[in-house]
Amino acid sequence: MAAKKLFLLPGDGIGPEAMAEVRKLIAVMNEDGAGFETEEGLVGGCAYDAHGEAISESDMEKALAADAVLFGAVGGPKWDAVPYEVRPEAGLLRLRKDLELFANLRPAICYPALAASSSLKQEVVEGLDILIVRELTGGVYFGEPKQIIDLGNGQKRGIDTQVYDTFEIERISGVAFELARTRNNHVTSMEKRNVMKSGVLWNEVVTATHKAKYSDVRLDHMLADAGGMQLVRWPKQFDVIVTDNLFGDMLSDVAAMLTGSLGMLPSASLGAPDARTGKRKALYEPVHGSAPDIAGKGIANPIAMLASFAMCLRYSFNMVAEADRLEKAISAVLDAGHRTGDIMSDGMKQVGTVEMGDAVIAQYRAG
Ligand code: NAI
Ligand code: MG
Repeated sequence: MAAKKLFLLPGDGIGPEAMAEVRKLIAVMNEDGAGFETEEGLVGGCAYDAHGEAISESDMEKALAADAVLFGAVGGPKWDAVPYEVRPEAGLLRLRKDLELFANLRPAICYPALAASSSLKQEVVEGLDILIVRELTGGVYFGEPKQIIDLGNGQKRGIDTQVYDTFEIERISGVAFELARTRNNHVTSMEKRNVMKSGVLWNEVVTATHKAKYSDVRLDHMLADAGGMQLVRWPKQFDVIVTDNLFGDMLSDVAAMLTGSLGMLPSASLGAPDARTGKRKALYEPVHGSAPDIAGKGIANPIAMLASFAMCLRYSFNMVAEADRLEKAISAVLDAGHRTGDIMSDGMKQVGTVEMGDAVIAQYRAG
């Protein structure tokens, strides 16, 4: 069996603290013969300090050669004055661009132990497990023209352009349909075809892709504003939601916050399948940043990073049983009352980063 090549980029702030817990889990899995090979590199502020760039060419090559990249977090006040081109975030943007990570996956899973602390009613979120698939490399964030022009009459005009080509909609909807097959076989596509031409095309292409290759999956269409409403009203009606870059940015934030705190939320970004092997480039990272306010204190919640690794097991290595086991271990540790400071509530047991990681790993071993 070929080695499973992981490239670890812990980054700055709490990134390395959270990554350390994943590294321990990888070691445990390797004892059982999982066969992970890991290499590590520098990204963000630490990379800038080491060699003046947010990521080096040699680390970029390793990221491109890996089966999956695990990314911690980058940035912090120390690098606020660094030039724009080499600022810490440039490392992440370069990775997304060069790996062509066009599909951003943000699950919203409600762990039973945390259901009572959601801003929504417990019965609305309890047992929730939905996945937002957001197009990440096209749409209004990248379309041209994109500028502010001076109209010369004391007025200026700001212009952004929403552009989608057929192939972009085909490939993102393909990802959504394929993921739905591994879940509850239901995709809801969201756009605004009532007022946007790109929405008309989106709807057409998703429908055609469904008909051609995925007619076994149930497909619904919803206007994106109604979708936002439905996400808050009754989110359990959804399984996989596929949508464009802008709507996905907003809807994934809404969906994620139905259930968790920042320290709980994982994400995955997937690229196109390799022509030869069929494997997708992929990067997995927690939604949170480097949390400079708590960095170095040993109190960061490692669950977002561990849950990102669970996504890696599921989507890059098809290790579904192990991914399920890890997610169940996280759930069980929360059920047992372990809480880092960010999710602490009355009567629970407050633990630090290492204790939380150890508890999840012990539970994983036992599971
Ligand atoms: P942040 O996500 O780092 O922190 C926001 C708040 O949530 C802080 O109070 C922090 O302590 C808390 N928090 C975040 N993750 C936590 C965890 N795992 N456990 C416990 N508490 C946690 O966002 P913020 O403060 O806006 O940005 C801090 C730095 O991170 C900035 O330099 C920003 O540019 C960078 N950043 C990097 C991202 C990335 O690497 N993908 C994403 C977001 C921000
Ligand atoms: Mg956002």
